[in-house]
Amino acid sequence: MSVSRAVEWGVLQGMRKVETVEQMPEEYRQVLLKLIGALASTEFASVEQHQPWINRGPTPEDRYIQAQIAADEAHQGFIDCRLLRSFGPDGAALADDLLRRKMGEHQLDAFNVPFESWIDTIAFCFTMDLVAWYHLRAMENSSFAPWAREMTSMVHEEKFHASFGARRIADAVRNPEYARLAEAAPGDVQRAIDKWYPRALDTFGKSDSRASQLAVAYGLRRWGNAELRRMYREDIDAQLTALGLTVPPEDRGRKIL
Ligand SMILES: [Fe+2]
Ligand SMILES: [Fe+2]
Repeated sequence: MSVSRAVEWGVLQGMRKVETVEQMPEEYRQVLLKLIGALASTEFASVEQHQPWINRGPTPEDRYIQAQIAADEAHQGFIDCRLLRSFGPDGAALADDLLRRKMGEHQLDAFNVPFESWIDTIAFCFTMDLVAWYHLRAMENSSFAPWAREMTSMVHEEKFHASFGARRIADAVRNPEYARLAEAAPGDVQRAIDKWYPRALDTFGKSDSRASQLAVAYGLRRWGNAELRRMYREDIDAQLTALGLTVPPEDRGRKIL
């Protein structure tokens, strides 16, 4: 998707996109700082989650793709940090804090949970990288121009991660040889889906979040939390059903509604 010069939706629609922090109204600045900070926290956290499984995938392709995914997440995290630092001392402090945090201290629950097996690792890519793709897709052509430009590569990276996860989960379900190589016991795939699905839905945030509404109004995001969660569910539920897996009940294990 190409990046337009004008804001595409919301209360600033038709105005020139925002290029620098100095141009931002204070509320816009706060919402954007929160948005980029939350995203950055997931990038560094997921590198930590992937790390124990790097080079342990069942095939050479698995090993190389997973290493690429971890590298993409680290790279995305540094892009987010560079933008955070452009906000001045509070943004820089936020970036430094994110770079220091370890598993258990990350902002979003799903990113404090270790990967327990290879099946668990690919189930994360299938479910959680698809969450990331929906989040980033909602910020394509964002009203903050530097952010919109980053989306032209980040969105495709997340699609690559999620489709790798989807393909390998399908292999684990349908291809006994792959399941054997991945050391998958019967029921492991469903258990991994049951583990990540509620956390994936939670990651979209509170349905009545004011920051989410403001992000849409300011042209930063195209859709709010509730709508993104609904779009995601439609997508992943159909994929799970097509694989003969059970879609977990929407409210099971949920912490954020
Ligand atoms: Fe990412
Ligand atoms: Fe990703």
